[in-house]
Amino acid sequence: MEIIIQPTPEEASRLAARLVAHALREKPDCVLGMATGGTPVKLYEELVRLHVEEDLDFSRATAFNLDEYVGLPGDHPCSYRYFMEEHLYRHVNISPERVHIPNGMAEDIPAECEMYEAAIRTAGGIDMQILGIGSDGHIGFNEPTSSLASRTRIKTLTDKTRRDNARTFGSVKDVPKHVLTMGVGTIMDSRQVVLLAFGSQKANAIARTVEGPISAMMPASILQTHRVAKIFMDEEAAGLLERKAYYKWVFEGKPDWQKF
Ligand code: GLP
Repeated sequence: MEIIIQPTPEEASRLAARLVAHALREKPDCVLGMATGGTPVKLYEELVRLHVEEDLDFSRATAFNLDEYVGLPGDHPCSYRYFMEEHLYRHVNISPERVHIPNGMAEDIPAECEMYEAAIRTAGGIDMQILGIGSDGHIGFNEPTSSLASRTRIKTLTDKTRRDNARTFGSVKDVPKHVLTMGVGTIMDSRQVVLLAFGSQKANAIARTVEGPISAMMPASILQTHRVAKIFMDEEAAGLLERKAYYKWVFEGKPDWQKF
């Protein structure tokens, strides 16, 4: 794991965006895994800026989103499809036919999940997966006790996640109970993982993810076994890390060519 601690979410997001841009420039037909939530919004803003001001080209890229609420159509303002269109897809030149988001309205949910896995395989696998983290350590919507080998499937949200996510819905009772999500195993298959975490409400999950034991109770902790996992955070999210000074020292001492 590479731990990158920056003073603010803005600075961390800018660095993460540089990494995504680098991947896209190296491999224009890059397959990107996308995340939703408040955390990646600044990263997407920066990618849009790079597209507009520096010609960052998405025309050959493919995108797969992590998850979607069951029962919400794509034009529902709380759906993750709507979120992605608003924050990224409609502002860059990605082809709509290469944008994939699980269909929360599918009648046959197991078939939809299998199709999603097959589409990722057909695209050649995910090159770079962007992730946020839930305050309980979930990635995608893989709640605590999710199988660490799981694939795309339906999950039931915990009350905590429904309360955390209620801010976009207005009220907890309107937050769907079920979601479709890539599994932990699906996420682990991606060639590179870029996780972002900001704010003190993520500090406990980050400390347990980076320095705790690997456990299905903290799904993100499996990233300790990923070959290329970069964890970007601000000072607040880094607040409970025991070896914080060491991670900073390592990052500051990197030769420029390694700093993406
Ligand atoms: C949801 C998403 C996750 C995201 C998490 C944290 O549960 N499914 O992918 O990481 O929210 O959201 P936020 O970034 O708003 O804290």
